[in-house]
Amino acid sequence: MRPRRSLSSVGGTDTRSHGDPSFAVPLRRALAAQNELRGDELTHGFHSYAARMHPAVARELLHNFRGAGKRVLDPFCGSGTVLVEAMRTGWRALGSDLNPLALALSRVKTQRRDSASVERFTNCLDRVVAGSSRRVRERTPVRARLPPHEFVWYDVHVLKELAGLLEEIRSIDVDDDRLALEMLFSAIVVKFSRQRSDTSVEAVDKRIRKGLATEFFARRGLEWIEGWKALARDLPHPCYRTRVVAADARRLAHTLGADYRCDLVLSSPPYGGTYDYVEHHRRRYAWLDMHPTALRKGEIGARRELSRDQAGARRWDAQVGQFLTAMSQVLHPDGIAVLLVGDAELNGQRMVADRQLQRLAGASGFEFLAAASQPRADRRGGRPRAEHLVALMKR
Ligand SMILES: C[S@@+](CC[C@H](N)C(=O)[O-])C[C@H]1O[C@@H](n2cnc3c(N)ncnc32)[C@H](O)[C@@H]1O
Repeated sequence: MRPRRSLSSVGGTDTRSHGDPSFAVPLRRALAAQNELRGDELTHGFHSYAARMHPAVARELLHNFRGAGKRVLDPFCGSGTVLVEAMRTGWRALGSDLNPLALALSRVKTQRRDSASVERFTNCLDRVVAGSSRRVRERTPVRARLPPHEFVWYDVHVLKELAGLLEEIRSIDVDDDRLALEMLFSAIVVKFSRQRSDTSVEAVDKRIRKGLATEFFARRGLEWIEGWKALARDLPHPCYRTRVVAADARRLAHTLGADYRCDLVLSSPPYGGTYDYVEHHRRRYAWLDMHPTALRKGEIGARRELSRDQAGARRWDAQVGQFLTAMSQVLHPDGIAVLLVGDAELNGQRMVADRQLQRLAGASGFEFLAAASQPRADRRGGRPRAEHLVALMKR
């Protein structure tokens, strides 16, 4: 499979690339595209998600490698960026992840809503907002179904308002709408907790007046409706149904079945030693009664696991080798894997991610094709790290 377009010069001056130019150029173009598009169009801005792929990267690559009805797999689908873009570009898409929140978000963001279903959702949203506002006004007693250690994260009146809001959501009987409303709740819950932000679990005081959570929920809901409408306007014919399943990216053939094959793997695996996805979504899991047992056991690249001793680099190599092998097993011969990766931070040591993939490709059933890289500022004020797009071909 060859990319369709070729350009002689793309990307900013700080973008470098190496390898086969017919792959290196589209990789550079895709990295550069992030600087040109906003990133919250369609359903992409529904919910924050750590290390979310910029939609422009997925859009550019899916466009380059496109072919009607071809299959693309994202085995670290997270919040579903690749899946939404795959719908728009006529791919048959399958996404998998170990995070239950990721699976739910991906399902909601790829919902295809015609005008009748948008109207039905709008009515559900109105009903939930009216019910929650009434509860706040009338001080209706409610019990927050949370583990007791979670209570400290909320002012008492906010805790009650969120609990009432969730009870109203749970009374919705259409599964798609209820799931969407739960994800809408998930999108706002950290903002109304004492947690500083999505990326910082520091506890801070926030002044939140009664009724604000419900008003905010209503506003975000209206934005979501516009997002679904924009997505529906953008979809090609035919538009294939997107599948989302729970799977460990190191055991794809086992979960997807021996017969499953795809033409392209497009994915962003966790950046080694950078995040703990289990910790990240703790507030949300508690409210939504989600149990991230499989993620706790199988999360790869987790900071808690890779930063605890000097053997982190060896463990990270082993994890990367495992998911590469699993990807090559589900690709057609000559199929391509394009991975967006960031340099790993392992107990204070950097591991440059494109070189790691190049080093491990051969033993995992792949041939290295090309890579493009751009420096990224480190949010925690450390040395800048690079983000890379790496293309591999199944041998
Ligand atoms: C960088 S994020 C992907 C973000 C996604 N591209 C997006 O745009 O939202 C990496 C994902 O890997 C998932 N993950 C970690 N270990 C996994 C494993 N062993 N199998 C499958 N998914 C895993 C995490 O839950 C997280 O969603």
